[in-house]
Amino acid sequence: MSAHSLTVIDNRTGKRYEIPIKYGSYPCYGASINAIDLRQIKASSEDFGLLTYDPGYTNTASCKSSVTFLDGEKGILRYRGYPIEQLAEKSTFIETAYLLLNGELPNKEQLLKWRSDITEHFFIHENIKKLIDNFCHDAHPMGTLVGTVGALSTFYPEAKNINDPACIHQQICRLIGKMPTLAAFAYRHSRGLRYNYPDEQLSYIGNFMNMLWKASELKYQPDPIFRKAIDVLFILHADHEQNCSTSAMRAVASSNADPFSATSAAIAALYGPRHGGANEAVLTMLGEIGSVDAVPEFIQSVKSGKGEKLMGFGHRVYKSYDPRAKICKKLANDVFAVTGVNPLLEIALELERIALQDDYFISRNLYPNVDFYSGLIYQAMGFPVGMFPVLFAIARTAGWAAQWKELLDDPDNKIARPRQIYCGQDARDYIPIDQR
Ligand code: CMC
Repeated sequence: MSAHSLTVIDNRTGKRYEIPIKYGSYPCYGASINAIDLRQIKASSEDFGLLTYDPGYTNTASCKSSVTFLDGEKGILRYRGYPIEQLAEKSTFIETAYLLLNGELPNKEQLLKWRSDITEHFFIHENIKKLIDNFCHDAHPMGTLVGTVGALSTFYPEAKNINDPACIHQQICRLIGKMPTLAAFAYRHSRGLRYNYPDEQLSYIGNFMNMLWKASELKYQPDPIFRKAIDVLFILHADHEQNCSTSAMRAVASSNADPFSATSAAIAALYGPRHGGANEAVLTMLGEIGSVDAVPEFIQSVKSGKGEKLMGFGHRVYKSYDPRAKICKKLANDVFAVTGVNPLLEIALELERIALQDDYFISRNLYPNVDFYSGLIYQAMGFPVGMFPVLFAIARTAGWAAQWKELLDDPDNKIARPRQIYCGQDARDYIPIDQR
């Protein structure tokens, strides 16, 4: 019997099974068994075999990945081995995107080429602009993004060519290059403002700011503190292993759908308040609480389970302080030094202070996550709340693309198709309508 195995005794039959344990040490963390090895465990020869039941995939590894490492107990996050703290301090979003996609940091030449590959795709087809024009004036920009990114597949039908590396690279550059343009146009549309076309001489973030905020000046000059803050926030949001939206990206792409359709699905998954919509929900919550004095009552209502959740708190994987939230909290001070302190900050700090001392939150390992402070920064910079998840989506596009590329190269890649435990009616005969 191998030491790296699990002995299972089925008490229904008394049979013993030896199931190999795989991985568990560098470079493949996460000791695991192949779920399909359980299928041999049967109560009788007609039995289908044992399944695992795991709603929300709380203990199921859906793939092997070498993009992002996350240790939720210790609060560690690394992209391709590099700690998030070092990348946030020293890298740029565009360099980090290269790292996520290629596994290594670029040299100067590679970075220049990568920047120019992306910049080439800043512009969008005029018909996409017309599509944005036709959304309602008050359309949520996340809905506009879902629609327009999905529509890109009709403009670039060659994107379904997922076996051609040059074609894959081109679609990734299109996605990363066009996402800020789509987001900025969605924002300008919701404000009734004319669109600002991309400025290819500006950096990735500088150009995004130009498309958002250029007024009548001849050449837009991005504020360096805001530019740095957006860059850092984009690095923090660039990837987070197999979260809900990345799993949606992988699930849709596993059917061999084109990357625009898959990314559109990922954006839709990100939209919800349990995921990327949380930063928007945090600001709504802080506004509703209204004052520091009202915080204890709000915490009471969260604990009673009758009110809403404490948005921006808790995480499926982190059971300690989210390392991204620590960086965000520090970044908030840099931005507030320019904009003045966001008045909602006091309420957020008081919520955090009370929650971190309260047994309800301590016993459930509920700590602030990345979205607790990011929205306060974005609001101080002048973004409306509806844009918060959109900003998350622009950044996460780099991670979605990296995970998509990894999926395409994975020899274990299969169409995502979970099983179910059927709990419905047994077979019965159809009853004609006059006999029901
Ligand atoms: N406020 C109050 N109670 C909470 C919270 C919260 N934010 N989050 C979890 N709990 C409680 C939950 O009620 C449950 O209690 P009990 O055991 O008594 O039933 C326990 O903690 C475990 O929660 P869970 O829902 O089983 O945990 P999960 O891993 O399924 O959910 C989560 C994770 C992020 C969806 C959840 O914590 C949540 O809804 N948080 C608020 C939304 C939020 O901030 N989301 C952003 C996540 S970070 C950005 C991203 O990567 O998406």
